[in-house]
Amino acid sequence: MTRQIRTAVFPVAGLGTRLLPATKALAKEMLTVVDKPLIHYAVEEARAAGIDRFVFVTSRGKSVIEDHFDFAYELNQTLDARGKKEAIESLADWLPPAGHVAYTRQPSPLGLGHAIWCARHLVGNETFAVILPDDLVLSKTPCMKQLIDAHACTKGNVVAVMEVPREQTNRYGILAVGDDDGRLAEVKGLVEKPAPEDAPSTLSIIGRYILLPEIFTELGRFERGAGGEIQITDAIARMIGVAPCHGLRFEGERFDCGDGLGFVRANIAFALARADMRPKLEEFIHQRL
Ligand code: G1P
Repeated sequence: MTRQIRTAVFPVAGLGTRLLPATKALAKEMLTVVDKPLIHYAVEEARAAGIDRFVFVTSRGKSVIEDHFDFAYELNQTLDARGKKEAIESLADWLPPAGHVAYTRQPSPLGLGHAIWCARHLVGNETFAVILPDDLVLSKTPCMKQLIDAHACTKGNVVAVMEVPREQTNRYGILAVGDDDGRLAEVKGLVEKPAPEDAPSTLSIIGRYILLPEIFTELGRFERGAGGEIQITDAIARMIGVAPCHGLRFEGERFDCGDGLGFVRANIAFALARADMRPKLEEFIHQRL
């Protein structure tokens, strides 16, 4: 029997330079899509997949994320005094219970692989999930739940994947594909950010991973890859042949919220998906166009 995946790691140490000046003093994970910060969606997605331990790998300037997931005494007092029971209940509803959230810092920007490695003692010796909050997914079934279901069959490392235009392969981890049933693809190799002419395919990793704990040993080798950084893609690649590795073409649409246009698209798509906003927003968009 596969053990339940209990822990999600959220690497949130990045500077968000593509979104300056918005991210100069504000953690990019706190940028809001419709009415929730990106990190809020990420935690919701993990919870909807049955995960109940949340590990954040932060850096200087990210303490606002801790505040977001903490009880806000003054706010509750004020809401209470104003008789706003619903708001209080809703806050209590999504706050993770005491002891289920942990924070650690990535002391220097050595790459995504290094950020995940920083969480090793908080994860322990069990299979875990990784969610990159910039990659927002709009789907019927939460993307992480789809990955966990796939892992229950494959028992190995699983990454969420989607096709990208060939000229964009240098932005992503790219798969060399083995057996492929059109949904689940066996991974024969992985390359981080290859030039279009060198990319083994156009199937790219987006920010959702299920990783076996042995990944920490690989990450602990501190091998530098693309951009001189310690890459999670390289560590997963080194486990191919030792443990199963699959790419899951998830159902849903992914938005790159680390980029201005992707962020605006996400806002429109998520607002249109809301029954309370759709009619008025549609009207507005039609008028503008
Ligand atoms: C990271 C990963 C890359 C993946 C991408 C998805 O890159 O290293 O393999 O395809 O996330 O968003 P980054 O966007 O941090 O450069």
